[in-house]
Amino acid sequence: YFVPMLMPDKIPAAARAALLGLAVGDALGVPVEFQPRAARIPDPVTGMRAYGTHRQPAGTWSDDSSLTFCLAETLALPNGRSAVPDLGDFARRSIDWLNNSYWTATGETFDVGNATRTAINRLERGAAPSLAGPRSEFDNGNGALMRILPLVFHQTWQAEALDLNAAWALTEAVANVTHGHPRSTLGCFLYLLVARSLLAGHSPAKACEHMRLQATPWLNNGSIPAVAEVKHYQRVLNDALSSLPEEQIHSSGYVVHTLEAALWCLLRHDTYAATVLAAVNLGDDADTTGAVAGGLAGLAYGEAGIPAEWLVAVARRADIENLAARLTR
Ligand code: AR6
Ligand code: MN
Repeated sequence: YFVPMLMPDKIPAAARAALLGLAVGDALGVPVEFQPRAARIPDPVTGMRAYGTHRQPAGTWSDDSSLTFCLAETLALPNGRSAVPDLGDFARRSIDWLNNSYWTATGETFDVGNATRTAINRLERGAAPSLAGPRSEFDNGNGALMRILPLVFHQTWQAEALDLNAAWALTEAVANVTHGHPRSTLGCFLYLLVARSLLAGHSPAKACEHMRLQATPWLNNGSIPAVAEVKHYQRVLNDALSSLPEEQIHSSGYVVHTLEAALWCLLRHDTYAATVLAAVNLGDDADTTGAVAGGLAGLAYGEAGIPAEWLVAVARRADIENLAARLTR
């Protein structure tokens, strides 16, 4: 299924919107991360808050954005968008984030997932990057999904005629640095298909339709290790996702839940703010659901769609914009 791509001159602005959109969604969720959904009914998030769960100033984003920016830095290297990205470079930046608070909002590394920590510890001991991610059933947290978005700007994902096998192989290599299970890679892959279509200028509904039309026949031919994982994404691959009631949408740290929740929010709203606030107010893993939805909403509505007061508040806005420019230069 062929998805016409955006004019190249629009790509830098889209990268800025994607990175800012992801960081703003993350920062909106950070103060209420781990709180149950019920806590949001009397007290919905409506904008940037200070303190809360991680005791951070307003506009502070977390690991989701930090590791997204580490990956974007690797892809921004000379030749980073061509051929195979330098995963050793991404590994070094991830280690630096964990130990030295590289690419953090406020100089503090305060939210680290279990699989992510296991993988980075292995990297420190010299594990090969694409083999570092643990790969058991319960290593399927959303920690690869939350940082994968910059890959949509890599030439493999940018190709006018998308090679799904090549896109899979690249996504798998990058996801596996922290998450080795094919279920995590499949979540990243479906997310990037939606992102790529949004980047091409299509609406959320069209982008999800393109994702299904591209992924379904390819998955059905059964040539990838993730074929046994397809059943876990039935609701993502079904066009009825947006009509599910909220109580059937979970917002835990499980990669399948996060992808479902982000797409559900994207499909049911028509502004950046409504999409990310819906995501954050699902509760539980609010920052990651907000980040994953926010990256897509940034692509869908552009930087101009992100409320100005949130852009003013978000930590390191100028550095994020500079990174986006280097990523798409
Ligand atoms: N079924 C259900 N839940 C699962 C499964 C599974 N098969 N596998 C993992 N989980 P974690 P990460 C749950 O801690 O992916 C920061 O907090 C698991 O029980 O390995 O490395 C960010 O903000 C756990 O509750 O994290 C992100 O939320 C959850 O998935 C997170 O770290 C997250 O798994 C991402 O990093
Ligand atoms: Mn986080």
